[in-house]
Amino acid sequence: MTNSSAAYVDGAVDYSTNIPNNIGLVNDARVLKALEQWHPGYLDWWNQMGPEGFQASDVYLRTAVSIDPKGWAQFGYVKMPDYRWGILLAPQDPNRLVNFGASKGEKAWQDVPGEHRASLRRLIVIQGDTEPASVEQQRHLGATAPSLYDLRNLFQVNVEEGRHLWAMVYLLQKFFGRDGREEAEGLLQRRSGDPDKPRMLGAFNEATPDWLSFFMFTFFTDRDGKMQLESLAQSGFDPLSRSCRFMLTEEAHHMFVGETGIGRVLERTCEAMKKAGIEDPHDTAKVRALGVIDLPTIQKKANLHFSLSLDLFGSEVSTNAANFYNAGLKGRFMETKIDDDHVLTNATYPVLKFVDGQIRMVDEPALTALNMRLRDDYVKDCQGGVGRWNKVIEKTGVNFQLKLPSVAFHRQIGEFARVEASPDGKLMTEADWIRMRDQWLPSSEDGEFIRSLMRPCWEIGQYAPWIAPPKVGIDSKGADFEYVAIHRA
Ligand SMILES: [Fe+2]
Ligand SMILES: [Fe+2]
Repeated sequence: MTNSSAAYVDGAVDYSTNIPNNIGLVNDARVLKALEQWHPGYLDWWNQMGPEGFQASDVYLRTAVSIDPKGWAQFGYVKMPDYRWGILLAPQDPNRLVNFGASKGEKAWQDVPGEHRASLRRLIVIQGDTEPASVEQQRHLGATAPSLYDLRNLFQVNVEEGRHLWAMVYLLQKFFGRDGREEAEGLLQRRSGDPDKPRMLGAFNEATPDWLSFFMFTFFTDRDGKMQLESLAQSGFDPLSRSCRFMLTEEAHHMFVGETGIGRVLERTCEAMKKAGIEDPHDTAKVRALGVIDLPTIQKKANLHFSLSLDLFGSEVSTNAANFYNAGLKGRFMETKIDDDHVLTNATYPVLKFVDGQIRMVDEPALTALNMRLRDDYVKDCQGGVGRWNKVIEKTGVNFQLKLPSVAFHRQIGEFARVEASPDGKLMTEADWIRMRDQWLPSSEDGEFIRSLMRPCWEIGQYAPWIAPPKVGIDSKGADFEYVAIHRA
């Protein structure tokens, strides 16, 4: 893949520099130098905080080699520290406009408008901070991987989150001068869960203690990432839009890992129950004795990860969100497909609020309700996945349905942060809520049980007994392909 010629072909991925890219870095000495200076610190971070114990393994990974949606990835064995993290932007559309807000109709900005500099930097840094955070959260999981297939998927997600960090760091280095360099450093300094220098958002400081959490995280929290990237992909600042559009191509796989991961757990549990003649899914002791994860515990894990991910959308009513929109920096999900004026100064949007001791729908100015709207789109997207999980259960004949809890349940941010509600949205006293907590969220006992199942299963073609093998492998390989050649020291 090396290209020794310095002549850069527009749009192609250039491997002649240390940093693969499709933006002609070879002709941009200042930014190339800044990124080359940042690179060793990134590798130090990866070696310290990336997947623990597998840096010498050969992993069957996809690497982006082009931005053609049909043929962008190439598969092959790579040691993770040698992964070619690069800077890839979706192709530029010379006719693209700012599609919403006060500057609607202007040509999309190729540079940062001075008056929006601080806001844009903030949006980019917040997005950037989540990428390495999830790698840190997941770094211990390799040790208990239920198969080489799953191990490979974990590492694929991890290297791509690393690439997403590169994508945001490029924007900082290219467009934000000295401040950008400092922010790029800061992204390597903060650590998930560190009380002195935590990552910026709550859900990214939570532990990912087991593989069920990992699958829930990639289903629920990576999906928040998708919604954020979708709205940043609408940005009037074209380089941000193009970065996010390419990131979305990769992000789809992360949610696939979560959805199919939980789907395989459900399949295995239900099959084991059927085989043992257990009809009552709530007879958890009997189900657990089979060495599989009972369905109510899976529901509790979903309750936890869904509620943590909802907090990532921020307050339902937010002047920041209004300002970002008005400025043309962050749009709505599917902005250009929405049939309205894309300015929203006279529009309203229904927001679920806590008023006079009750949960009620209240019309708010659409501009300040943008977080609520994005969260609604997110909930719909989650609902689709939960419906597909329920099909998996239904097919086995087990009588159980997973449900998304109410948006008022277990919240730390926004309207419902100060109230306690059950998963079906009933308000209650704090004392009652605490009494019920372990019915609704994973208890320490649930955690211990799950941990007792988390034993590595690294033989080729073998799967841990609590999870079904995948229907299809990666890159048309089977479930019994050697996805990771471990070579442990
Ligand atoms: Fe990401
Ligand atoms: Fe992701």
